[in-house]
Amino acid sequence: NGSTTPVKKDLFTVNSPNVVYTHNEIKSKYTYRTTLVNETADGKFVAVPKETVYDFKVERKVPKTGMMLVGWGGNNGTTVTAGILANRRGLVWETREGPRAANYYGSVVMGSTIKLGTNAKTAKDVNIPFHGILPMVHPNDLVIGGWDISGMNLAQAMDRAAVLEPTLKAQVKKEMAEMVPLPSIYYPDFIAANQEDRVDNCIQGSKACIEHVEQIRKDIRDFKAKNSLEKVIVQWTANTERFADLIPGINDTADNLMKAIVNGHEEIAPSTIFAVACILEGVPFINGSPQNTFVPGAIELAEKHNAFIGGDDFKSGQTKMKSALVDFLISAGIKLTSIASYNHLGNNDGKNLSSQKQFRSKEISKSNVVDDMVEANTVLYKKGEHPDHTVVIKYMPAVGDNKRALDEYYAEIFMGGHQTISIFNVCEDSLLASPLIIDLVLVAEMMTRIQWKAASSDGAATKDFKNFHSVLSILSFMLKAPLTPPGTPVINALAKQRSALVNIFRACVGLEADNDMTLEHKLF
Ligand code: NAI
Repeated sequence: NGSTTPVKKDLFTVNSPNVVYTHNEIKSKYTYRTTLVNETADGKFVAVPKETVYDFKVERKVPKTGMMLVGWGGNNGTTVTAGILANRRGLVWETREGPRAANYYGSVVMGSTIKLGTNAKTAKDVNIPFHGILPMVHPNDLVIGGWDISGMNLAQAMDRAAVLEPTLKAQVKKEMAEMVPLPSIYYPDFIAANQEDRVDNCIQGSKACIEHVEQIRKDIRDFKAKNSLEKVIVQWTANTERFADLIPGINDTADNLMKAIVNGHEEIAPSTIFAVACILEGVPFINGSPQNTFVPGAIELAEKHNAFIGGDDFKSGQTKMKSALVDFLISAGIKLTSIASYNHLGNNDGKNLSSQKQFRSKEISKSNVVDDMVEANTVLYKKGEHPDHTVVIKYMPAVGDNKRALDEYYAEIFMGGHQTISIFNVCEDSLLASPLIIDLVLVAEMMTRIQWKAASSDGAATKDFKNFHSVLSILSFMLKAPLTPPGTPVINALAKQRSALVNIFRACVGLEADNDMTLEHKLF
């Protein structure tokens, strides 16, 4: 549609009868091998290897893409914006430790590599940047916009956030000053009362209505048109809201949710209004905060409209450590018996979370992250048995954005012994979250260009190509409380989440999953 973005030059090509490159697409045939387990009458397991052949189709043309943030004027919104501008212009700035240059550290897409394979001559691993596995958008090319209930321009808001070095801020100030968030929707009951003094940029009306949905849709369309964009991804990085009550007849089905919005029901959160607007607009929407934006009605609406959604709650510091460490302990056969997690932070997020209802959203999101790992180990834990797990968050203005996370992991080891691991993690909050915001946008955008079709002989064959399920659980690596398609398991273990992401992308270009067996180095 008029775009001149060229087809990206591939970092590698796959030479296989199962992979075909056309000008517009990469087409591959991939055999997905799993194991089905049957239980016999006498309680024994019989494992049966299963194969499903999938066709994947990847659109090669990288679209001109916009990222719209809800809460653009907050710590994350301003930090990710300044970070992208700095990278785009290759900025270098002075700090007391010497010059620093713009980078994308902390982004799995931009900062990590994956093993493509083994060098045919030297037998050494060949690693490529993650970004090179599929034709992905580069963050430097993102057009950025968004909404905030605080009308400060982004330069002032960046000063308010107190995250970045003055020498860096000085270099992006002019550009940031020209960026002003669009007015947003504000239903005071959903965020802490202590946020009120920054609210000066609202669309009229203080409860749900269809006009709000329409206004957000119009904002997205206008942004798209003004910047000649082919794709837009919207992400909630605004304040944590309280949980919405789940009420039968109100937010349980797509139809009821739409009716409740029209009728101005009090239990519809602003974040749900944004989600609904994006779903109806066919624009992916990702929730970076812990609240239950995706009430069942919203998920059903996304499924109905074939729109992509993802969430919840960025997994940046303490929880990221937790989902790696607990995976290690339990898979090493060590019986974790308690986790005590304390945080104190002094940014506006901390201020909002000092209010009980908003803290509760965070507490829920932080508490369930070890469940799958515990449940999977039937040797260490009896059915229903859990380690004790406590989460405390305190607002401590002095530490600003440098959140402190103190964690004690207490475990039972061999013959009644104990292992105690104590972690003091200074999570520079917005600097950890910003690269996740970028990853979520890049992966979600990529998922809009991947289609599949099943071609197996086991009855699961599908006639036409279709999208992945509306709920993008592939984003789990970046999220604390991953949303998954209804009825499917949640995976919190960090290594599994990463390998799902890597291996699905590999499958899309017809490459086998990386299985780490390295038999080529063992059997010769
Ligand atoms: P922040 O408080 O600095 O920014 C939030 C922004 O959202 C504010 O500018 C506020 O005015 C705006 N806002 C509130 N309600 C709005 C609405 N209805 N529409 C538009 N804008 C609205 O917070 P920060 O540090 O940027 O974090 C943002 C969110 O990300 C929080 O919910 C936080 O819990 C979540 N999060 C952050 C992590 C991190 O920073 N490492 C990790 C996990 C989650």
